[in-house]
Amino acid sequence: MSETPRPADLIVFGGTGDLSMRKLLPALYHCDRDDRLAPETRIIAMSRGGLDDADFRGKVDAEVRGSVPVDDHGTWQRFLGRLHHVSIDVGGQDTEGWSRTAHLLAGHEERDRIFYLASPPMTFGPFCRELHRAGLVTPVSRVVLEKPLGRDLASAQRINDEVGAIFDERQIYRIDHYLGKETVQNLLVLRFANAFLEPIWNSLWIDHVQITAAETVGTPGRRGYYDHAGALRDMVQNHLLQLLCLVAMEPPSRNDRESIRDEKVKVLQSLRPIVGGEVDRFTVRGQYTAGECDGVRVPGYLDEPDSTAPTEASRRVETFAAIRAEVKNWRWAGVPFYLRTGKRMPYRSTEIVVQFKDVPHSIFPGSAPNRLVLRLQPSEGIRLHLMAKEPGAGEVALKPVPLSLSFAETFTSRVPEAYERLLMDVLAGNPTLFMRRDEVEAAWRWIDPILHEWEAQGTAPEPYPAGSPGPAGAHELVLRSGRYWYEDDLA
Ligand code: BG6
Repeated sequence: MSETPRPADLIVFGGTGDLSMRKLLPALYHCDRDDRLAPETRIIAMSRGGLDDADFRGKVDAEVRGSVPVDDHGTWQRFLGRLHHVSIDVGGQDTEGWSRTAHLLAGHEERDRIFYLASPPMTFGPFCRELHRAGLVTPVSRVVLEKPLGRDLASAQRINDEVGAIFDERQIYRIDHYLGKETVQNLLVLRFANAFLEPIWNSLWIDHVQITAAETVGTPGRRGYYDHAGALRDMVQNHLLQLLCLVAMEPPSRNDRESIRDEKVKVLQSLRPIVGGEVDRFTVRGQYTAGECDGVRVPGYLDEPDSTAPTEASRRVETFAAIRAEVKNWRWAGVPFYLRTGKRMPYRSTEIVVQFKDVPHSIFPGSAPNRLVLRLQPSEGIRLHLMAKEPGAGEVALKPVPLSLSFAETFTSRVPEAYERLLMDVLAGNPTLFMRRDEVEAAWRWIDPILHEWEAQGTAPEPYPAGSPGPAGAHELVLRSGRYWYEDDLA
């Protein structure tokens, strides 16, 4: 039986921004609709917008209502009634703004108080200090940090120190929204609730693993952020490495807040560093040029519409990255983990492909190794490719056929958005699906030498036309060891 939700005040910095309007508010509405918010729970958006509660409710009514299922006017009105707005310039010394916030929160100190920082990472430390100075941090407060957590190890450590000076580690929730996706959690269930996989989940049976996050979207209007992030910081350091951890981790002893994170951190610490001259051998970076994506002609990265003109940083930033990683431990020795992500790819798809070794001795021509494919999006599901005989007399002809589990067809219930799950976990005080400080820092420790080498080279990434599966170098990265990317599984 689910627990009765506790009353909370959820205070969102950047509350009128893109993330809040597109992801957080729709997710909170879904939670409300499913009666998973306590009647007293309030959602307080903080922004410079100069709005009052009525303006903010009007904005949400106009911009969010269309993207969520509103089957009952009463439920939507109840949701709007939870919304408040505090106009504040948190970057400056806006004492009036802070006293308005304090006034709104006064008398509700017993409620769970959650500060959600949907703002750039350099604001995390200063905002936490302001909250502390304004006396708003209670013993039942928690703080949620959106990615990216810094831009390298040193900045991540600085942010962690600054936030850690105000909040205990147990109060800090670092979000990686991939961990809230259904299939990601299903991966844990698949591995640790089914006995048959464990004996073959190792280098004796597995040839290699491919983890791909391909997007058709480009970066229009995101130059300010993306020029200084790039695919490595934006997708690999967090989302792809988290997926790698879940594939490679040892079975945890319990499904609790620390056991899973303890095992994930061990994987990150076992990643073989890629340094100096190896960077060119084991990594590839690309940037999209003009092309056709989803049947539409689209501009190259440098010509994406934006309020600022491209700079030298724009010319050097990668919109595609591929890496051959290795987990140096007993289970995985010698098994490559190929990671790749890109914008403006021919399809939108996030998948993990586990390719098993071929049979030791084949008596049939045309056999191919088994493959387990975990599809995170779109149409979540799991497929196991087996070899079967094509019906017919005469010579035995083999064909790979998938055993498929489609979540949409198997389960009729709605698949919740990642943010719904994660917001509910924050409200319930369950940090299992959030990244611990040592995890984030271990991920940066591995990424840093690659970033440094790319930056030191100062060269432009390899171009690839929008709508193509990335630069030629990515193909060569896997071909060098006689392998290839499974585009068929993705399309
Ligand atoms: C975000 C990145 O973290 O993840 C975006 O900043 C990216 O650049 C997005 O588009 C992808 O998320 P999803 O859930 O659509 O795969």
